[in-house]
Amino acid sequence: MMELNHSKSTVRGKNVIITGATSGIGFAAAKELAKRGANLGIVARNREKANEVKSQLKAIAGENAVVDVFLADMASLPSVRQAAADILEKWPKIDILINNAGAMYMTRKMTAGGVEMTWAVNHLSPFLFTNLLLDRLKESGHARVITTASHGHKMAGKGIRFDDLSAKGHYSFPQSLFGGATRRYGETKLANIMFTAELGRRLEGTGVKASCYDPGLVATNFNQDNGMLARLTMAVMKRFSRTPEKGAETLVWLADSDEMNVSNGRYYRDMQRTIPSVPAQNEDAAKRLWTISEEQTRQ
Ligand SMILES: NC(=O)c1ccc[n+]([C@@H]2O[C@H](COP(=O)([O-])OP(=O)(O)OC[C@H]3O[C@@H](n4cnc5c(N)ncnc54)[C@H](OP(=O)(O)O)[C@@H]3O)[C@@H](O)[C@H]2O)c1
Repeated sequence: MMELNHSKSTVRGKNVIITGATSGIGFAAAKELAKRGANLGIVARNREKANEVKSQLKAIAGENAVVDVFLADMASLPSVRQAAADILEKWPKIDILINNAGAMYMTRKMTAGGVEMTWAVNHLSPFLFTNLLLDRLKESGHARVITTASHGHKMAGKGIRFDDLSAKGHYSFPQSLFGGATRRYGETKLANIMFTAELGRRLEGTGVKASCYDPGLVATNFNQDNGMLARLTMAVMKRFSRTPEKGAETLVWLADSDEMNVSNGRYYRDMQRTIPSVPAQNEDAAKRLWTISEEQTRQ
């Protein structure tokens, strides 16, 4: 992580909501933001784990540091709605929202609400969560929405398959044997980039900026719940992976760097703007994704 004079940090005293801070990249980012004096609202599905993280963050930032826990399972839209309501009730101001929670599923799973799980956790829930918190972000004047995307969006080379949003195709034989699940994951990460682009367009003139980033290949708990083969693959990949701290570097930079450094609606890697895949730059598809996501989150 970049060395910084923490007393000069722009996040000191700012109110930051972060999802997925109980592990990996999100935990590393939360630790660094706590060091820099941010007030943190960690959004997690597991109360015990979240309370343990809260203790660790307070050990870093001091007993008086603000670290609040909000519970949400990103696989459940009602749970996301409840967490947003809890946050709006408790926090009169939100300066930064970090959508970082994410997962990959090797077999096709559906949420209780009937949405394919990867789509729900990685795209639909952050879409809903952001929209529920957006007015509060706008009120703060110079807010930011940062989403953890991935170079893996390139696995969805043909773009989002709007004709199969519940991913029957990806997980059916023989696609399932040839990377269907990873392509599905790639689609959701592509959705993160397209969501950011369209959100950026919608936020023009409001003072709120949206950005997303690729953390690189990072050694975390990612893909550990998908059986022996996935765990073995991740163990091999770990040898070529970054630390969570390095993976969180661009996220922290997007939260803390001077406003002039961050372009609205754009994709970053290693603290620099970078160009995503051709499908990720398709404005019409991003608008279509927005409309469909609104419909899917109306339930
Ligand atoms: N690792 C990489 O190489 C890599 C590369 C590119 C992008 N990314 C992205 O980075 C982000 C963070 O992943 P990571 O690598 O840090 O993995 P990780 O160590 O597995 O952390 C994932 C985080 O998301 C949370 N989460 C997962 N499903 C959730 C759900 N249904 N409800 C609420 N929270 C949930 C996890 O909570 P629990 O602690 O309760 O499990 C955890 O806090 C993801 O969006 C991922 O797509 C990772």
